[in-house]
Amino acid sequence: MSGHETALRELPLIGRGHARYDGRAKVTGRAQFAADVVVADPIHAFLLLSTIPRGRIDRIKTDRALVLPGVIDILTHENAPALAAPVSQAAGSATNHQPLIDPDIVFDGQVIGVVLAENFETAREAAALVDIHYVKQPAAVTLDSPGAVTERWSEINQNFEDLEVGDAEKALAEAPVTIDATYHMQSQVHNAMEPFPTTVLWDGDDLIVHEPSQYVVGLQRGVARQLGIDPSRVRIISPYIGGGFGSKLSLTPRTAILAALARKHRRPVKLVATRSQGFTLSTYRGESRHRIRLGATPDGKLTAFAHEAWEMCSRFGAYASASTDLTADMYAAPSILTRVNIVRTDRTTPGFMRGPGEMPYMFALETAMDELAYRLEMDPVELRRLNEPARSPIDGSRFTSRSLVKCFDEAAERFGWRNRNPVPGANRDGDWLVGYGCAAATFPCFNYGGSATVTLLRSGRARVETAASEIGTGAYTALGQVAAELLDLPIENVEVLLGDSLLPPTAPAGGSMQTASTVPAIRLACERIVSRLGNRMPALADLGAAFDRLGTLSIQETAQYAAFDGKNANGGRAVLSTPDGDEPIAIASYGAQFVEVRINARTKELRVPRLVGAFAAGRILNERMALAQYRGGMVWGLSSALFEGLAIDPIQSRVTNTNFEEYAIPVNADVQMVEAILVPEEDHEVNPLGVKGIGEIGIVGVAAAVSNAIFHATGKRLRDLPITLDKLF
Ligand code: MOS
Repeated sequence: MSGHETALRELPLIGRGHARYDGRAKVTGRAQFAADVVVADPIHAFLLLSTIPRGRIDRIKTDRALVLPGVIDILTHENAPALAAPVSQAAGSATNHQPLIDPDIVFDGQVIGVVLAENFETAREAAALVDIHYVKQPAAVTLDSPGAVTERWSEINQNFEDLEVGDAEKALAEAPVTIDATYHMQSQVHNAMEPFPTTVLWDGDDLIVHEPSQYVVGLQRGVARQLGIDPSRVRIISPYIGGGFGSKLSLTPRTAILAALARKHRRPVKLVATRSQGFTLSTYRGESRHRIRLGATPDGKLTAFAHEAWEMCSRFGAYASASTDLTADMYAAPSILTRVNIVRTDRTTPGFMRGPGEMPYMFALETAMDELAYRLEMDPVELRRLNEPARSPIDGSRFTSRSLVKCFDEAAERFGWRNRNPVPGANRDGDWLVGYGCAAATFPCFNYGGSATVTLLRSGRARVETAASEIGTGAYTALGQVAAELLDLPIENVEVLLGDSLLPPTAPAGGSMQTASTVPAIRLACERIVSRLGNRMPALADLGAAFDRLGTLSIQETAQYAAFDGKNANGGRAVLSTPDGDEPIAIASYGAQFVEVRINARTKELRVPRLVGAFAAGRILNERMALAQYRGGMVWGLSSALFEGLAIDPIQSRVTNTNFEEYAIPVNADVQMVEAILVPEEDHEVNPLGVKGIGEIGIVGVAAAVSNAIFHATGKRLRDLPITLDKLF
């Protein structure tokens, strides 16, 4: 770092809870989300989705729809505009299917047409009048369907390797105590409060896209590539996102098609996909299965860890969350064996969804650890303490900071873990069986680096500009408050501009990395501003005089922060350059989840009166927003444990619950006390501000803690999510 840092105000390890910068705009409805944007004379688009999972469109007749007054055009594979590149090439990862290029149907809910009309209602009505005749073929839609094909992930993804440390098979065969159990979870989908809207308009040769995006720079590049134009001609505007969770992270197939249609018709085109369509239009967490084998000594020391996973994938895509490196880094097992498989089915490709692999992989590991603890008649917290590794069990990398045990201790204390009677099924309160369960949480630190512009005006007002995205996490506030604190200004004086591809590029709001990747750039820019003011930030009242001495009205600095000297810390791994050579490091956040469940002995009604989680993720910029992130994640963890699952009809091979009546999520009455604890942690290596990531870790571990608590309450071990009422009988 430059020599000016001592001149900067020191940030506290846990920052104050400034209220949300955009709170008032959101609650008063002034915040413009993508679908709110008003454009002149738009054409309204409505998507036609396939109603079979596999086969071919034999005949598609649009004449009845086209004569409806107000219908402008209907696009199908027979007349869709050609694009310069398919979405898979433009997105950088082959996870998406390019629709409207052939009559083949490869999944249920595939886009097979776009109806354009003068208003939404006409477009929707016309869509219903399109006559489609399919030739159906049998489809494999679950891991166990006939025709599903298993492939080894390491053979598909050149950057991925399965782990083999020591001889785990031998160690398992010789271990005095073993656990060998298989865990499963149904597919889950994120369908945020804001659905999937896109509005596109051309200004001459320049394209403007209003679409919620967790990565405006990525969307800009992708759309440009698909249209065969220079990225500088494409501007993505996404100041607010009503929930992303990964579903708005990647290039989607619809955007370039709509842009091509807007060009053809010389009018803006506006699409707002319906709630029901959102269940198959977006990425999702695919069904997965995990076999965990643990070997241990009678006193609880792990001797072997084996994790084999099967993740559902499409026929055409290549996506796996593949989080065995994460589970293998958790505990000090001297021998490790992992294998990740994908299972090809006739479904759309899964993709990023909050804690994509962390959530399911840790559900499996942390339930298995609980099974081992009960087998050993040992406190599950003690089992984890006993197996806490000093270095990465995978490769000996040094953990830059790791507060897992501290998180367990703090959450256990707060929860009152010590007072429990460990015997399963022995805790009763009237008609209710009471159970306590716990599990670890973790999330790796990614860091893509970033850039930002900070402007300080003579008046004492400042502006922060960066192409970050506000997905509801509080990015405006967190980024603005860093500048306010470093420039010693009241936060009200700082204006923050985000969500526009014209702004300095930065890391996506994904992988829990945006804040950690962006604040170092803001810090650098602020340092340079302070440097120009004589290495000391003048008091607000003296700012005018200082600017006058410099003969300027504003000071603007753009700074770039490259993570780890350009070596990306991907997957929580990085290499530090030290005087003694390169040093491999492992970087992750940790947490501990504790859950109380109550199950009615007669009706099996299940209630979750308490969730307590403790998390350590380096410097916390804003206490209030961090707690909200953690608590929100924990609620989603509860949801993944007990409620969510895509239901596939075995005869039609289609998703049947494409609505929020039948795709269950918790309501207020399901969520009682949810408490998050911030465990202070200093990390001087992760980045210049010591910020890790907090966006996703809150969901991790909750499902295991719930299933472990159910075991404690009932003596019944449930290894299949969601744990619905029928499974308790
Ligand atoms: Mo997160 S699933 O990387 O948006």
